[in-house]
Order: sequence, then C-alpha cells, then structure tokens
Amino acid sequence: MKSTAKANANIALVKYWGKRDSKLILPYNSSISITLEGLSTVSTVEFSKRYKKDTVIINGKELKDDEKNISGQLERIRKMAGIKEKARVVSETNFPVAAGLASSASGLAALSLAASSAAGLKLSRRQLSMLARQGSGSASRSIYGGFVQWRKGSKKDGSDSYAEQIADEGYWPDFRVAVAVLSKKKKKVGSRAGMSQTVKTCPFYDCWLKSIDADLKGIRRGILDKDISRVGSLAEYNCLKLHALMMTTRPAIIYWLPETIEIIRQVLIWREEGIEAYFTIDAGPQVKIICLKKDLPKIRKRLGGLAGIKEIIIAKPGQGTALINKNLF
Ligand code: DP6
Repeated sequence: MKSTAKANANIALVKYWGKRDSKLILPYNSSISITLEGLSTVSTVEFSKRYKKDTVIINGKELKDDEKNISGQLERIRKMAGIKEKARVVSETNFPVAAGLASSASGLAALSLAASSAAGLKLSRRQLSMLARQGSGSASRSIYGGFVQWRKGSKKDGSDSYAEQIADEGYWPDFRVAVAVLSKKKKKVGSRAGMSQTVKTCPFYDCWLKSIDADLKGIRRGILDKDISRVGSLAEYNCLKLHALMMTTRPAIIYWLPETIEIIRQVLIWREEGIEAYFTIDAGPQVKIICLKKDLPKIRKRLGGLAGIKEIIIAKPGQGTALINKNLF
C-alpha cells in the first residue's frame, strides 16, 4: 500500500481567488494556468497498520500546522477506498515551500495521486482533478500538463468543478516563465485565509467577477494562437486586478516587497525596448516573468543587474501529475 507520484507546480494566468464553498473548494471564478517543469513535488504515501497516526514530512521536517488540511485529504481518500489504515507521507520539493510559488498545487496534486493509488483506487484524470481540488484549489490544475483551465462549475456537489487541458506541454515549446525569487520565507497571510477575507470585505470583488470572462476568453485564444503579447498582457492585467483586491481587503493584504515593484517597473521598461516580457505575481513577493525562449538571455542579463533577487528559476511547460517508481522511503 505504498505509491509515489510527481507533480509540477502551476502558475495561474487568470487567477483563482475566492470560494463559493470552502468545504468542497468550489471557486467563484474559473482560472487558467500553465503547468511548469522545474518546480515539482515528489510524494510517497504508505497506508499501514503499523502507523498509529498520520505523519507528514515535507523536505525533512514533520508538518506541524496543517494549514492545508492534509490530514483531511488523507481521510477523504480513506473513505473513498473504504480503508482505515493511517498514513506516512514523505514529500520533497525542489523550490521554497509556502512563499507564493504554488507549493500547495504541486504538493496536493502529488499527494492526491500517490495516496489514492496507495489506497488501491484507480481514478480517472477528471476524478483526480476533483480530488486534488478538495485538497487545494490550484492543485486541480496541476493534474494536467501544459495549459489548463479549471472550470468553476455550477453544481452544489462540485461534480462539474474540475480542470481540463487547453493545450499540452508540447504545444507551445518556446513558452517560458522566469521566476525571480525575492524571499524564501513563509508568507504571513496564506492564500486560503487571504481569499476568504477578500470575499468578505473587498468592495471590488464583484467587479473582479464581472471582468473575469473577458480575461479567460482572451487568454484561451492567445494560448491557442501562441500569441505571447495577448497572453502576457492579459495575464499581467489579471494579476494587477488580483493585487488590487488583496490591497483593498480588510485588513489589507500586501504581498509585494520594494523589489517586487522594482521588477514590475523594469519589465515595463524592457517592453518599451521591444522585449516581450510580462509579469505575474501570486500570494507572495516573487515575480514570475512570462516570455519566450528567444528573449531569455536578455531578460536574465537584466534581472542579474537588479538587487534583492535570491534565485532565478527558469521553467517551461511541464507534464501533468504521474506515478513514478522511485519511493522516498
Ligand atoms: C494566488 O490553491 O493555494 O495562487 O484552495 O485555499 O488551497 P486553496 O488556495 P490555493 O490558492 C491559489 C491562489 C493563487 C492563484 C491561483 O493559483 O490561481
């Protein structure tokens, strides 16, 4: 009863922010993302009578504050499989956890596949996406490779809220995301608590929802046409709207550092110079630069001249969550 899965993180081009049902994790709006090779989690799960309780070890450390309710996810899988055994989970990520780098997306996607397989369940990709969704919304998208849309659905039981692939990881091979890591510290306000506070208090939340369809349609078209200016400019616009919501939440949620704003300003300058670079930012200070492979040398060089960047990670379209043979214990 042991299985291992590998999942890539994903970065949203149209963001998910706000739940209409927080138990089932059903979002108010659909979202679109790109699954990225190079930012991944490997997770081994074993269910056994030997274990008296569930234990989760992430990057060598036992998980204490179970912010994402991983034990709830294990319990859900036990119920689906009709088993009682407790689990040992060991996960390794190759990037900083909980700093706005989509660690919960790859983490919960890997855990959902490894645990369901260890429990003897054989789920379809769609079922897996719905299961991962209940662990962490953005994880529903990491089940698929390439460009992915999570349909919000409208049913109360969540049976129509799952991700689907728009185009696979081979469709637009020159697409790149350069991640400028500015802080490896855990963020103060997690996305779960933050988005719930936005829904409750932000006066602009309705405007966000009203303007989402245009972003979804435009980005989808841009992906299918491999049109970097359309995808990039709409992703940037959607990101700024998201951060406007965060800033006008009470209490205000401000994820940006001074260096975040400096990179934003620089990206705008680079564009005037003719470099097709666009930024997006999630629940953290890191800036993700959307671009094409041909512009990477220039972008790297310019990023290299800026202060405060701890690491630059270059990622390309990656594959969906899959079982692997190498167990971590
Ligand atoms: C800003 O998926 O981490 O990255 O469903 O509560 O686990 P929960 O939230 P999570 O939120 C991701 C928020 C975001 C935008 C996005 O990835 O779409």
